Amino acid sequence: MKDILDKLEQRRAKARLGGGERRIEAQHKRGKLTARERIELLLDKGSFEEFDMFVEHRSSEFGMEEQKIPGDGVVTGWGTINGRTVYLFSKDFTVFGGSLSETHAQKIIKVQDMAMKARAPVIGLFDAGGARIQEGVAALGGYGEVFKRNVIASGVIPQISVIMGPCAGGDVYSPAMTDFIFMVRDTSYMFVTGPDVVKTVTNEVVTSEELGGASIHTTKSGVADGSYDNDVECLLQMRRLIDFLPSNNETGVPTWPTQDAADRIDESLDTLVPENPNKPYDIKELILKVVDEGDFFEIGTAFAKNIVTGFGRIAGSTVGFVANQPMVLAGVLDSDASRKAARFVRFCDAFGIPIVTFVDVPGFLPGTAQEYGGLIKHGAKLLFAYSQCTVPLVTVITRKAFGGAYDVMASKHVGGDLNYAWPTAQIAVMGAKGAVEIIFRGGTPEQIAAQTKQYEDRFLSPFVAAERGYIDDVIMPHSTRRRIARALAMLHDKHVEMPRRKHDNLPL
Ligand code: HXC
Repeated sequence: MKDILDKLEQRRAKARLGGGERRIEAQHKRGKLTARERIELLLDKGSFEEFDMFVEHRSSEFGMEEQKIPGDGVVTGWGTINGRTVYLFSKDFTVFGGSLSETHAQKIIKVQDMAMKARAPVIGLFDAGGARIQEGVAALGGYGEVFKRNVIASGVIPQISVIMGPCAGGDVYSPAMTDFIFMVRDTSYMFVTGPDVVKTVTNEVVTSEELGGASIHTTKSGVADGSYDNDVECLLQMRRLIDFLPSNNETGVPTWPTQDAADRIDESLDTLVPENPNKPYDIKELILKVVDEGDFFEIGTAFAKNIVTGFGRIAGSTVGFVANQPMVLAGVLDSDASRKAARFVRFCDAFGIPIVTFVDVPGFLPGTAQEYGGLIKHGAKLLFAYSQCTVPLVTVITRKAFGGAYDVMASKHVGGDLNYAWPTAQIAVMGAKGAVEIIFRGGTPEQIAAQTKQYEDRFLSPFVAAERGYIDDVIMPHSTRRRIARALAMLHDKHVEMPRRKHDNLPL
């Protein structure tokens, strides 16, 4: 009997060694942890249950029958994060560069199917070179099966991709179909084809970092939602993120105990908006002062900084925040900001997360660069996303809400449930100068000045909108947290039916 038990231990030890000591050392030298070390950090201590540790590939091409490594380049299973179940797969770069074979794909598919049955999130830790070249179409077929499941699970269970090494081909396309992508700075890359192929095809010489490093995907392309300094920091932040997310689209948001009173007032908010309407202020200060214990998980921190998106809690329950940022481009809506916020709003709506929107927006960004880049379609994405929400929507206009951007930013007209304004709010088609120059074209400077004053007094206030009921109340800034908390409590059981249809036709 002892022999049998020893044999099992030996087989396990072999599997745990992956591609061997030499490659593990190389992994560490690059500043990366191994697939198993990452799992240990991500999950609650001792909670990991592994599946398919002994699975091997079945390929016999290019001498592959001589190179079989149990586990076949991916560690899969389930465990808990602060007691809540998650499924995961962690690519092992030490085994054929983490590349995907037919059997490697079957391991991931098993995890995806089990997560869907149990309605729990899937986290993928990627450090892999795409389809296993030796397997050809068998690997491509495997990816197709993974992609299809990514799509079927979308909006049912949260799917998170963490990029922790050089990733190419299917190892970037599968993440692209998940809800969030996070990267590790300086050790992770994402590209459809790597620098060598780029050089061959286009003659362009680029480094991995220039082509698909975290600096590119978190600021320029917007493909990744955030990046961290190293594996440890990244995985600890993923634990924090999971604490904010519902397990599926039917459970409702998780609730955690909090010491922060829901009716806490903050007098400093009464002076947050500067007297000069053209002076910026930091909208994140408002978010941090409104959420429980100042705990805010920002999504897309470095991309389209003119809009802020992320998760916080009010009275212990998760809330999605969307806020124009006057510190960057005066908080204007451009294509990138619209795309970023639209995707976030749709995630929240899919998973039943109420949305709080803080509005200070001078309008959409004018100009050829934006128009040629499809601002009309990108702006429409955000309008579409808010308009199709059935989750509670609470909106607070702190200052400017001008033009089409007023409508878009969760106004009453597109489905806002409770729309508040601070006394400093200015709700109008445009600012005073632009408005008066158009409607009093050709007037003397004195006439223009008089009309500007009249326009400011009448229109640059919350009261024209409040008189029509478009604003439910003009509130004191210091009471914002209390008013939002009460609004969300009142809306807890909000139920809205949309007409039956196969699916909408979001302006892509
Ligand atoms: C088999 C692979 C592999 C792959 C890497 N390896 N990628 N083996 N199939 N796709 C192996 C290497 O042979 C090597 O084995 C080990 O992994 C480490 O690779 P290196 O190249 O030494 O590492 P590095 O210099 O860090 O470069 C990593 C890399 C590069 C950028 C990922 O290996 C690379 O460009 N690989 C190919 C990427 C690719 O084009 N994949 C196909 C994509 S098509 P040893 O034995 O030396 O340790 C695809 C289709 C899906 O995925 C469909 C999409 C819609």
